[in-house]
Amino acid sequence: MARTVVISGGGTGIGYAIAERMAADGDHIILIGRRENVLAQAAAALGDQTSYVAADLTETQGAEHVASHIADRDATVDVIIANAGGNIALQAPEPRPEGLAGVSRLWTENLRLNVMTAVHLVEGLKPHLADNGRILLFSSIAAYRGSGSGSYAASKAALHPYAIDLSAELAPRGITANVIAPGYIQDTEFFGEGISPQRRTWNIDLTHTKHPGTPADIAALAHWLAAPEAGNVTAQIIQSNGGAVVGR
Ligand SMILES: NC(=O)c1ccc[n+]([C@@H]2O[C@H](COP(=O)([O-])OP(=O)(O)OC[C@H]3O[C@@H](n4cnc5c(N)ncnc54)[C@H](OP(=O)(O)O)[C@@H]3O)[C@@H](O)[C@H]2O)c1
Repeated sequence: MARTVVISGGGTGIGYAIAERMAADGDHIILIGRRENVLAQAAAALGDQTSYVAADLTETQGAEHVASHIADRDATVDVIIANAGGNIALQAPEPRPEGLAGVSRLWTENLRLNVMTAVHLVEGLKPHLADNGRILLFSSIAAYRGSGSGSYAASKAALHPYAIDLSAELAPRGITANVIAPGYIQDTEFFGEGISPQRRTWNIDLTHTKHPGTPADIAALAHWLAAPEAGNVTAQIIQSNGGAVVGR
């Protein structure tokens, strides 16, 4: 039976690859992101069973907007893929205050982008979640290795205990909650204007496999974790990084 799958950040990169993979099963996909033109283009490419909601999930109103879309369709949600996120430090530089005020702003923005987007989406959709549903949160190798400023890594690490608590709460209804923690994944908008050749080589050198990950790698993992047969896998943080986290 076709399921309803909500994917935040589904218009680009990893989220779009997951949407493609789920749409191939005939599932109904609901893409979430802030840029309506990006979502419209992605939905058109994915076909008739895809819709979208333009919403900023750092705000509670964004998640409420998504919940209204579900209620209007008289649907329940089978799978929540809370994939929206990124590292504010890699995005187009906005004028930030110097010193402590600047550090505070960076931390606050990364916590909002990576923690609150997931919390708002999951908590906002909880009343619509079907029994035997699936929740996937998106962490990073940075949660294990650091990220330079600390704030991106810390914001991703915060999702690990959140998934564990969601799992404990929702397991009686057959719902699982897991985290995917990718290493370097190429061909997404994560690195903003683009990754430098030196940084790309450094990321690849850290791996045992000596190649970057792809959005399709993560989509295959998400597809399996969201499948009915994955019901005994819950409260887990699953890494996909070519061995890079080991660091040798
Ligand atoms: N690529 C990597 O190497 C890598 C490694 C580890 C973890 N990750 C994680 O994987 C996830 C997907 O990243 P990606 O690599 O596919 O990068 P991406 O292409 O930049 O995807 C991020 C998506 O999130 C959406 N988004 C950002 N802020 C949002 C907000 N406030 N509300 C709603 N949607 C929002 C963006 O769309 P709009 O801009 O239109 O809102 C975009 O579609 C992220 O959580 C990222 O931290 C990526």
